[in-house]
Amino acid sequence: MTIPIIRILLIEDDEEDFILLRKHLSRISGVRYELEWETSYTHGLTRMLEDDQHDLCMLDYRLGAHNGIELLTEAREHGYVRPIVLLTGATEGEIDIQALQAGADDYIDKGHLQGELLNRIIRYAIERKKAEIEREKLISEQMAAQELEKRKNEFMSMVVHEVKTPLTSIKGYAQLLSKRYKRSEDDQALQLVNRMNAQVSKLTSLLDDLLDVTRISGGMLSISEEFFPFDELVKEIVEDLQAVNEQFTLEVEGESNATIWGDRMRLGQVITNFLTNAMKYASNSTRIVVKIFLSDQDVTLCVQDFGPGIAKDVQEKIFTPFFRQEHPEQRSIPGLGLGLHIASEIIRQHEGRIWVESEEGQGATFCFSLPLERKESIVTQPETV
Ligand SMILES: Nc1ncnc2c1ncn2[C@@H]1O[C@H](COP(=O)(O)OP(=O)(O)OP(=O)(O)O)[C@@H](O)[C@H]1O
Ligand SMILES: [Mg+2]
Repeated sequence: MTIPIIRILLIEDDEEDFILLRKHLSRISGVRYELEWETSYTHGLTRMLEDDQHDLCMLDYRLGAHNGIELLTEAREHGYVRPIVLLTGATEGEIDIQALQAGADDYIDKGHLQGELLNRIIRYAIERKKAEIEREKLISEQMAAQELEKRKNEFMSMVVHEVKTPLTSIKGYAQLLSKRYKRSEDDQALQLVNRMNAQVSKLTSLLDDLLDVTRISGGMLSISEEFFPFDELVKEIVEDLQAVNEQFTLEVEGESNATIWGDRMRLGQVITNFLTNAMKYASNSTRIVVKIFLSDQDVTLCVQDFGPGIAKDVQEKIFTPFFRQEHPEQRSIPGLGLGLHIASEIIRQHEGRIWVESEEGQGATFCFSLPLERKESIVTQPETV
């Protein structure tokens, strides 16, 4: 086994102390100490800063007109990062605390320079310093990563806002044109401008999704809650989507009669994503069933489709940002893979649960449930006639 070598830089103006320390160090077994020696403040400081071969520096408290604490303070100010052990005299009681405050890693009384204590102080100081540097490095890396993430989010929000502003104008002009063409009964132009309008709306909702993920990764997706009748929201969304998607029959089963505490707009976004996903991915089918359940603890909403379903091993991945299935038949379907990620964050903020039940080839059922007890949600009994 090779014996470890530890190089010590001693800054000490008394030759007798140097010889004594060298003697003590040479008697320690299991490690070979190599001692380099400087006698003055100035040479000591230069050596500390320029010699990158030593593992630890030992400083005498008394260095001519200066003292070791001044030297260690100056060295630390110049970025000296190696461990420092101060050598003190028996009468210098208060110095130990000052030394540690100034950046020393330990101190040792020259009167107690016995082998084992000396060995332990040196080894501990080296190990502690190593751990400290490692910890600082880790913290600064984490801070740099957080800063980068913050800047990325700020940049994304800025880009999205900048792109949305002209889009809003385009939408305004398209609506204006649509009205004019309607009046002038120019059907062809009306159809074109309406298509343009629909594409602009798609683009806007894409940008809104991007803004939402940016907010989620910056921990800034906020919800604004109120009491509202849950079934009414579901009905509203189903009717709106049914009106523009004639291929599907959207059926609503069950009711909750619950007035719940939550963000109406955000929960609507979740339901819309479930339904638009069902229409996008189960485009070969015609039925979509929306189910509402009420239990003592929660309200549950499920959207069931009769499309290709989702294999078990990808079911948990579909809630992660930007995840989309690799199926060739799905590749042509537009989307960024953000809808379910945003939905799960919205439901998480409502302290609810979101999940999918599916067998490949057997359709998929996407559900979320919201706890009723978060804030006395009101459940009215349906009137019997
Ligand atoms: N009803 C469904 N049937 C089959 N696969 C689905 C269904 N809903 C979602 N998926 C799969 O989960 C993936 C993620 O869905 P998600 O809603 O997060 O994103 P997206 O629809 O691809 O894009 P967007 O960001 O526009 O919502 C989809 O790409 C699809 O592969
Ligand atoms: Mg989607």
